[in-house]
Amino acid sequence: MCGIVGAAARRDIIPVLLEGLRRLEYRGYDSCGVAALHHGALARVRSVARVADLAGQVASQALAAETGIAHTRWATHGAPLTHNAHPLFSRGEIALVHNGIIENFEELRDELKARGYAFESQTDTEVIAHLVHSLYAGDLFDAVRRAAKRLSGAYAIAVMSEREPHVVVGARAGSPLVVGVGDGEMFLASDALALAGTTERIACLEEGDVAEIRLDGYRVLDQADRPVKREARIVKAGSSAVELGPYRHFMQKEIFEQPQAVADTLEGVESVAPALFGEGAAAALQRVKSVLLLACGTSYYAGLTAKCWIESLARLPVQVEIASEYRYRDSVPDPDALVVVVSQSGETADTLAALRHARTLGQPNTLAICNVATSAMMRETQLAFLTHAGVEIGVASTKAFTTQLVALFLLAMTLAKLRGRLSVDEEQQHLRRLRHLPKALGAALALETQVMAWSERFAAKEHALFLGRGLHYPIALEGALKLKEISYIHAEAYPAGELKHGPLALVTSEMPVVTVAPNDALLEKLKSNMQEVRARGGELYVLTDAETRIAGSEGINVIRLPEHYGLLSPILHVVPLQLLAYHTALARGTDVDKPRNLAKSVTVE
Ligand code: M6R
Repeated sequence: MCGIVGAAARRDIIPVLLEGLRRLEYRGYDSCGVAALHHGALARVRSVARVADLAGQVASQALAAETGIAHTRWATHGAPLTHNAHPLFSRGEIALVHNGIIENFEELRDELKARGYAFESQTDTEVIAHLVHSLYAGDLFDAVRRAAKRLSGAYAIAVMSEREPHVVVGARAGSPLVVGVGDGEMFLASDALALAGTTERIACLEEGDVAEIRLDGYRVLDQADRPVKREARIVKAGSSAVELGPYRHFMQKEIFEQPQAVADTLEGVESVAPALFGEGAAAALQRVKSVLLLACGTSYYAGLTAKCWIESLARLPVQVEIASEYRYRDSVPDPDALVVVVSQSGETADTLAALRHARTLGQPNTLAICNVATSAMMRETQLAFLTHAGVEIGVASTKAFTTQLVALFLLAMTLAKLRGRLSVDEEQQHLRRLRHLPKALGAALALETQVMAWSERFAAKEHALFLGRGLHYPIALEGALKLKEISYIHAEAYPAGELKHGPLALVTSEMPVVTVAPNDALLEKLKSNMQEVRARGGELYVLTDAETRIAGSEGINVIRLPEHYGLLSPILHVVPLQLLAYHTALARGTDVDKPRNLAKSVTVE
């Protein structure tokens, strides 16, 4: 998704802006640009290639400046062409970068055209630049404040004026924006990670804030134009997170970081207690009568897994909703529901909107399970659990998923305990298993060579089916999503019992069928489904565990996890599927960390 960096300093800030863009590359983008006050005039360089290309152009033009803004763009309105890349200018006097979507841009464009503004791009963003220009009377902060009142939609912007050196103004509504505090220099960014290595002192702006950074400080007005303090705190967005180390790709690195990520997420969890989810959790969790999980993509599959755990352990009814559907559906609210948003980034526009929608329907008990402490979801919910996966750079989510599952399992146990459904022995047993997970994940990772042998065959395919049942159906969904998003192989997942109701028609000897088949209550049923596939000549790729007797034979390839892991088995079975997607993509030569058309953090609808 789009990324913003802005800076005002008494030194050349071009290297800071370019480094910030490099750090934001992982979010996905298709063009980038930088604008700066160079010898008293606005100068701009844009590229439809990578940040490295932009840096090359900047160097050849010897661009140096003390005030500037920069951007990576993920196209929404207007193709990824140079003239649509940000920063966008208004009459050469105002430069602006924007994340998000302006919903009323057509109406504003007509109005601004009528006032003589010429449009050079097909973007929604250009209207903001002209709007700020039209309101500018020597005070950029005031012009942006007034312009923001005319915008509807979601945005984070950073703006500079040719007439105000060492000033950058930002505003946010629906998309994240932070202020980075340095010594005698200030920064703006859409993500604290962009400023790693520059400053760790970060102030998060709230919805509707307008902020001005200058050399000696920053000031903020809230949406009611009241001056407010947004205190800076230390955010360790460690530079090492964006280093590959010995790995070829971030996705590979992140897959292999899972034992550590899970261990870090469990650190300090001595027993199952509501306090894990924040202050006041005991009272809030005690009174809930149902659970509503809201999420997108991989996080949604974590939610589907959690449904099985919560219903079975806590005996509470659970609904899992795709956030982009829930927010527009005429659903029946339960005032006693615990609304749980699950999100790696904590900024996904659909999930955030679904959370707000759930609240407006009169469901006040909210919990975020998130990987970013400073994210909007963490700030907007009553309760929160921070997963400690560390920064996830690869667009394909891996370690965020396994740590979400750990958090959700802790939630299931907590709800069960509060409802008197978890004995001390059961609690201890589950906790022992959770603590053993890092080791068990290590054993799952050791299956890599066997998975690579599968991936060589998958690389030549264009379609694949994934099957699972019960707890492992969401894992089949996640396996299919991983494969399609990075290898571009069309993959579908089905609960195996559904096979004969339609998808069996697709099964031929050309169709690889991945089956997640650990020893659980549905194993015998699943084996029958596997027979249905074999009888049609389909080739089976079976992930199973130490407790089954499924053996490899003609058309049946088996990889066996060394342990049976009971309720926590989904956390282990997803690992070979992540590796399968990774190695298949590698064999097909795709851009593993930045798959086409996708962005890491989807902050637009
Ligand atoms: O940051 P979030 O967890 O809210 O993101 C949700 C999805 O966009 C995300 O999981 C997406 O599906 C991943 N690319 C999957 O690998």
